Amino acid sequence: MFLCRSISKSNLFVFVFVFVFVFVLLLVGANGIRSIAAENNGYDETEVEVDPFLQFREAPEYRNQHKCTLVGTGNGQMVCDPSLVHIAMTIDWHYLRGSIAAAHSVVKHTSCPQNLFFHFIASDARLESKDEFARILHSSFPSMRFKVHEFKESLVENLISPSIRQALDNPLNYARTYLADLLDDCVERVIYLDSDVIVVDDVQELWKISLTGSRVIGAPEYCHANFTRYFSYEFWSSDEFSEVFAGRRRRPCYFNTGVMVMDLVRWREDDYTRRIEKWMEIQKERRIYNLGSLPPFLLVFGGDVEAIAHRWNQHGLGGDNVRNSCRNLHPGPVSLLHWSGKGKPWERLDAMRPCSVDFFWAHYDLYMPHRRTQHHQRVAIDTTHSSF
Ligand SMILES: *[C@@H]1O[C@H](CO)[C@@H](O)[C@H](O)[C@H]1NC(C)=O
Repeated sequence: MFLCRSISKSNLFVFVFVFVFVFVLLLVGANGIRSIAAENNGYDETEVEVDPFLQFREAPEYRNQHKCTLVGTGNGQMVCDPSLVHIAMTIDWHYLRGSIAAAHSVVKHTSCPQNLFFHFIASDARLESKDEFARILHSSFPSMRFKVHEFKESLVENLISPSIRQALDNPLNYARTYLADLLDDCVERVIYLDSDVIVVDDVQELWKISLTGSRVIGAPEYCHANFTRYFSYEFWSSDEFSEVFAGRRRRPCYFNTGVMVMDLVRWREDDYTRRIEKWMEIQKERRIYNLGSLPPFLLVFGGDVEAIAHRWNQHGLGGDNVRNSCRNLHPGPVSLLHWSGKGKPWERLDAMRPCSVDFFWAHYDLYMPHRRTQHHQRVAIDTTHSSF
């Protein structure tokens, strides 16, 4: 009895010591990416301080089940192999930990991980980043097929009008509009995912859904949400604008652009990029909405979206705008969890104020907290032998 108690006491002491030690490290060391206030959908106004020694663990290797179609091994136009499942995500220093956890979750739960091809979209604003991201991704997923594409911020710089949240004005937030151009011409379909998601189901199921009729995108729809409030009075009071939805198959409903299946052939044929850009140009002149990259998607696709099962986007887990608020899962089956909203799981975990869903996210986190002295050496070795 006494022994037990003294052990648990010393355990407690060790625990407290480790806790304090880690906490001090987090505060003092240039650990990871420092940002205080995470914002919706992507990005915030906080200057991102990048740790040049950022490290991630290697994910366990996942292999194809027998039923999977074999992907050709010729190294020519590998990306054009028709058996591939294409997934696009943005990547930047701020959300790197999220992107890596998201990719990890996809690979872990799919029956054919070797048939996946990831397209990571990086901004061209920091020239050194593209190769650095490729190096980090390769070290975490040595057998993953992927490409880091460069998104020219100048494409949207003059099209972005300030939204109610600066967070939504990050140019990379608009990269999803340009996937048809960014990805290779032979890529005919892509699943776009935000970086703050975790997929807990076989992504092949999402890949296989059919976009009926001439539908260009598929996404879960939320018809009980008040669609009116996504646009301004100026918009609804103009006949010219509000008529936009008249020719649609169904009443337009809100959908979240963080998870979309996109038919890139139809997209390119009818130049949907240009259609979205046109609305952004109008927005610059007449302020027809208050949010960032979402409303132009609603304008172009609202009422013509292939409605995918809600389990593919359990969004809102980031919580409301009230600080430290937690949200639970909606009832029903879950294939994808989405921390849209202000709070991001990695920030809440680091701040030791996690919501219960954040522990679930942590299963997929590959980030390695480290000490300055150790990683100096390790990175020095890495860079000399790096093939990138
Ligand atoms: C929807 O939002 C608009 C604008 O905010 C409001 O005027 C309207 O009453 C709302 N409709 C419903 C059904 O709540």
